[in-house]
Amino acid sequence: MPASQRSTARKSEVPLDQVRRYLEPGPVLLVSSAHEGESDVMVMGWHTVMEFSPSLVGCVISRANHSYGLIRASGECVLNLPTRAQLEQVLGVGSTSGADIDKFAAFGLTPEPAERVGAPAIRECHAQFECRLHDDSLVERYDFFVWEVVAARALATPRHPETLHYQGDGMFMVAGPTIRRRRRGLK
Ligand SMILES: Cc1cc2nc3c(=O)[nH]c(=O)nc-3n(C[C@H](O)[C@H](O)[C@H](O)COP(=O)(O)O)c2cc1C
Repeated sequence: MPASQRSTARKSEVPLDQVRRYLEPGPVLLVSSAHEGESDVMVMGWHTVMEFSPSLVGCVISRANHSYGLIRASGECVLNLPTRAQLEQVLGVGSTSGADIDKFAAFGLTPEPAERVGAPAIRECHAQFECRLHDDSLVERYDFFVWEVVAARALATPRHPETLHYQGDGMFMVAGPTIRRRRRGLK
């Protein structure tokens, strides 16, 4: 169907619990954390940029996750960016609990010291964003954390990695072509 007809075609209802499929925000991340000698890693499918400078990122970290306790107590984490090649590790990390196993060892993820936080970074990931808690006023109500990224590192190549974007129910979108359209006033 040509694009001109697509917007006028009748739209069918979207079940409200599937809205996330259309509002997918950004790449799947591996969130690493540590507290009092214990460390863990979980998958995060949804997050949002809240401010460019300082660099603020908001996300839900469910209190049902083992990571929650480490993150709540330390007020720190590292957001690590995996790529398509790491899908199996993402699935493993996202379907097990650090309360039962050492996920770094189980899924071949190498923890390495971060620069500015106590949580470990993950060596195999394309990029690492070290975070300190900026605002916890929505944690009690929504498990919503606002982080300030205090240090960030990424591989120079590939420039546009094949990141994974989660649509729910086991569906992942892989980052595709990039379009550059520079215009004055565009942020
Ligand atoms: C693709 C994917 C996306 C996920 N996104 C989130 C998320 O945004 N927030 C969250 O709290 N849990 C999310 N989870 C669930 C946790 O990653 C999962 O429960 C994990 O096993 C928790 O590990 P832990 O108990 O060791 O902390 C996601 C899982 C998967 C597989």
